[in-house]
Amino acid sequence: MNRYLQSVERLQEAKNYVAGGVASSLRASMKPTPLYVQKAYGARILDVDHHEYIDYMLAYGPLILGHAHPAFNEQLYEAMQKGSTYGLQHEGEIRLGQRLTEILPCAEQVAFSGSGTEAVMLALRLARAYTGRTKTVRFYGHYHGWSDAIFTSFPSPDFSSSGNTEAAGSEIIQGTAGQSQNSLKDLILLPWNDPAALEETLTKHQHEISAVITEPVMCNSGCIAPKPGYMEKMRELTAKFGIVLIWDEVITGFRLGLGGAHERFGILPDLVTIGKAMAGGIPLSAVAGKRDIMRLIEEGTVMHLGTLNGNGLATAAGLAVIQELSKSDGQAFKDMEHTATLLTDGIRSILRTNGLQAVVNQQGPVFHLMFIDHSEVSDFDTFNLRDSQLYTRFAEEMLHEGILVRPNGLWYVSTAHGEKEVQETLTAVEKVAQRIAAHRS
Ligand SMILES: Cc1ncc(COP(=O)(O)O)c(C=O)c1O
Repeated sequence: MNRYLQSVERLQEAKNYVAGGVASSLRASMKPTPLYVQKAYGARILDVDHHEYIDYMLAYGPLILGHAHPAFNEQLYEAMQKGSTYGLQHEGEIRLGQRLTEILPCAEQVAFSGSGTEAVMLALRLARAYTGRTKTVRFYGHYHGWSDAIFTSFPSPDFSSSGNTEAAGSEIIQGTAGQSQNSLKDLILLPWNDPAALEETLTKHQHEISAVITEPVMCNSGCIAPKPGYMEKMRELTAKFGIVLIWDEVITGFRLGLGGAHERFGILPDLVTIGKAMAGGIPLSAVAGKRDIMRLIEEGTVMHLGTLNGNGLATAAGLAVIQELSKSDGQAFKDMEHTATLLTDGIRSILRTNGLQAVVNQQGPVFHLMFIDHSEVSDFDTFNLRDSQLYTRFAEEMLHEGILVRPNGLWYVSTAHGEKEVQETLTAVEKVAQRIAAHRS
């Protein structure tokens, strides 16, 4: 009897009505089948086959408070009693805007949207309009949403991003069929964590480049931290050449601390994009940054549109998340990091004991686990050498043991995860590691 029978049947039924059966293409890759959920609470999810899982996928990042957090839900319920959206202005927008400018060191003003993709679109437009230049520098292995002007496919593992940066820059692969080729012509693609490549390109194309956009930690490819001095160099060079520096904090915002990665690293980008954890699972994103750039919106030079922008439900969610995470001087971040460290220490030790070579890169409450024959992974080329098939198998086996992890290796921890979850998870890791090791010998 298939353990996931109900999910398999639901997917078949969904395919009659929903293109591909899932609501986001990424979700189709889950093995052995995309799961259908009955309900979720705290750190746990119950599927339609009545199996409970500890959830480390957390909806791809947003659920920083876990599922169905009582105080969060209460504030949403209260907000809904006053009407969920007006297409008019309201107090919630002002209060959330104010809190964000207090919390985010680089934020003098903010603009709200619904998704990370939209926030990135707006930030790139602001940069082009502000500088009067057209080109955008982005990096291999980073992800900035799926809009035409920024969505490139990650190169295949055998594609080297080192060496000739001009050649690498010309090798831009479309992220999807149907994408406008023309919009990608404005992109320059560079290896990340490579100050020489950055300096060479920015110096050479300084008069054409409007923005450098970067994830502050390469969360989408191995949770790789910037090398010491790299982000400082990026700040220095972009300031020197009048290029807008955009930190895409859609993952790191509200994860590496209330003030995101730029507070943690003590560097001020010109603009940041935030989303995901910002509203704990309700669609909300924002661009935040220098007034001098944001004023283009007020002047009407750059259009900022969206029917549901700043709706009452989203702003209430944002305020509720900030309220919870600000308690006891941000103790929640210390607790989440502690939980994540218990997990990563435990996982490393279990895998080592079972003869499985792996690297775990952790940044606060987020980490990437990969099977690889290296002692560390600090660049995209090395990351591409990982055994992703083995990880997919690991993720599937973990699911059988009641642990839900993303098939690509990125784990998120929420405030709802504690020592009980850690113990259960490590017990499952032990069982799965033993099975994999036995199968290999
Ligand atoms: C760094 C980063 N930027 C932007 C996005 C796009 O956000 P969304 O999926 O909300 O459009 C993502 C999504 O994973 C992301 O990781």
